[in-house]
Amino acid sequence: MFRYMQNCPVYFGAGAIDHLGEYVSEQLSSKKALCVYDPGIEAAGIVDRAVKSLQAAGIACVCFGQVVSDPTIGVVDAAGELALREQVDVIIGIGGGSSMDAAKATSILMSNPGPIKKYVLAHPINVDTKVPVVSVPTTAGTGSEATRVAIITQTETNGKWSVFVNTDLAVVDPELTCTLPKDETAFTGLDALSHAAECVTSNVTNPHNQLFACAAIRKIVDNLYTAWSEPDNVAARTEMAMAADWAGIAFAETMCHVGHALADGMSIQFHTPHGYNCAQALPVTLEYAAPAVPAEILKVAEAMRIPLTGEETAAELGRLCADAVWAMMRKLEVKSLKELGYSREEVLKVAEEGYQSHLSTYCPVPVTKEAALQMAARMYDNYQ
Ligand SMILES: [Fe+2]
Repeated sequence: MFRYMQNCPVYFGAGAIDHLGEYVSEQLSSKKALCVYDPGIEAAGIVDRAVKSLQAAGIACVCFGQVVSDPTIGVVDAAGELALREQVDVIIGIGGGSSMDAAKATSILMSNPGPIKKYVLAHPINVDTKVPVVSVPTTAGTGSEATRVAIITQTETNGKWSVFVNTDLAVVDPELTCTLPKDETAFTGLDALSHAAECVTSNVTNPHNQLFACAAIRKIVDNLYTAWSEPDNVAARTEMAMAADWAGIAFAETMCHVGHALADGMSIQFHTPHGYNCAQALPVTLEYAAPAVPAEILKVAEAMRIPLTGEETAAELGRLCADAVWAMMRKLEVKSLKELGYSREEVLKVAEEGYQSHLSTYCPVPVTKEAALQMAARMYDNYQ
């Protein structure tokens, strides 16, 4: 038996943001929205378009534009205070994972007593909410619009912890990603690749998530370089936005595993972007998991369009997948940890989160301290 999920309605297509108001009005009958975003999204003119569309549909808007990367419990408490004071009836996260996750967490405070640190835990819990959440992604990576996961930084413990929240509607407009800087296009696209490849190789994988994840991998392999090298290529941006959403659908039900645990270790230690960290961790993760999931690593290799003889062992397939990810990273000019100035000793410290995170329990091979150290070492040594 396995569980599969359909999260919420998604309106998808170029120009969809200009219809945000009518979608929110039709689906949720909302009258007053809190828009949650960061200053960069406002500077890109995206907030103006969203607010204009909402107001045209008769929805009043309150704005909270102080989201930061890897949003903290303090950011969510401030947004929650504003939402309660203004008595909004919908919360709209506009931006990358940080804004969407902050919006999800804010909704908790509308119907549960704060502060938010009571709900964001090392072992995430489900929290019921009554005020609906709408997600408007502006990157093609996190897939947060397709998941119930909100990742918030617990400043007191310096942990990137999660909470599960219902979401109600997503509006995915691929044109919004055309203004992303090149490195963010690469990092977020590789984050989506990590979601897809990790959930196919997790110990709770199922046919439903594999359907979406493998389709997402094919789209990323076929389109990420074009989206990176030709930022205004709406066709490539559209394929990447769909891939990120589908990878989100896939990992929403089966979770990522040790790759994201190691990535969280890098976020905590180096404060490097989440997608960058996921890219660094993915090759060694696939190598490590492969022997335990021969059928699934074959699906990942095929979706990555790696030429195969059919004679490869699972371990060989894992290495081929790792090499293909490293080759993709080089083509996208993703710098190594060494190039960013980190020493091997510093990188080895990332292993601690790698074996202690709850995410690693979804790895098909148990993640011991020694294994996590070896993965961290390979991450540093094999991509310089
Ligand atoms: Fe991720």
